[in-house]
Amino acid sequence: STARYNNVLVSRPNPGVALITLHRPKALNALSAAHFKDISDALVEADADDSVGAMVLTGSEKAFAAGADILEMKDKTFADAFTNNFLANWEVITKLRKPIIAAVSGYALGGGCELALMCDIILASPTAKFSQPEISIGIIPGGGGSQRLTRIVGKSRAMELCLTGRMFSAQEAEQWGVVSRVVGEGEGVVVKEAVEMAGTIASKGRVAVIACKEAINASFEMPLSDGLRYERRLFHSLFATNDQKEGMGAFAEKRKPNFTHS
Ligand code: HXC
Repeated sequence: STARYNNVLVSRPNPGVALITLHRPKALNALSAAHFKDISDALVEADADDSVGAMVLTGSEKAFAAGADILEMKDKTFADAFTNNFLANWEVITKLRKPIIAAVSGYALGGGCELALMCDIILASPTAKFSQPEISIGIIPGGGGSQRLTRIVGKSRAMELCLTGRMFSAQEAEQWGVVSRVVGEGEGVVVKEAVEMAGTIASKGRVAVIACKEAINASFEMPLSDGLRYERRLFHSLFATNDQKEGMGAFAEKRKPNFTHS
């Protein structure tokens, strides 16, 4: 399927895992419209593929993505941006149902940081450098940076980061909960860890995995009482699945479950 994309590479490093690698090396993976379309098409394709249980999104050692393509944006007018709803298509990624793990090495700046924040889990290499530098080029974050980042790091840090544009390190990102973990040093280590994690997720019952992602995401949209009810309803519904019978049956019989994703 890679052949259909100019700016991403798609592979299957593990059963059930689709690895999507941003590949626009001459611009540090700056997200032109064409590049972004390849990324979202590849993710949509993997999400719809029955043989895939989880996706990994990564860039290069030097850059996950250095932001939206500034050269492509610089002459845009307000009327263009508003009328064509510039960046609204990025929301596609947040509607996907299977887990997406971002494996970040090097620069994750502006739209690159926001792209990582749209994923479900972020793993960082010690070389990862994040920022929302839009303020330095006369704009503000447009892919959720002022909203998703603020919900994670709190007001004071979000204000500091978005108003100064300063970079923050993998260690800071871990301390603040932006990333779940900083992996060990070395080329390719973060991708290997992310692929392993995706493989673990892909080995679980797919129905429960999708329900679990949906329940956690609901917590960002609802008051606690509604969120708890939502979780309980999904929890109850999983007793209608074969995977619940298989998972609990296998435990009782002291063997490994063989999930059929049904
Ligand atoms: C277009 C970019 C780019 C970008 C890098 N390049 N970032 N092109 N848009 N965002 C290109 C450079 O022009 C250059 O092309 C090549 O990639 C290598 O970059 P250098 O600057 O030569 O590399 P280096 O000196 O190592 O510096 C790396 C860098 C710097 C610190 C990441 O490139 C940089 O500051 N980039 C811009 C980062 C940024 O402001 N991002 C936010 C964009 S706004 P040539 O042809 O000269 O070799 C944004 C808005 C989001 O994302 C809105 C919501 C999505």
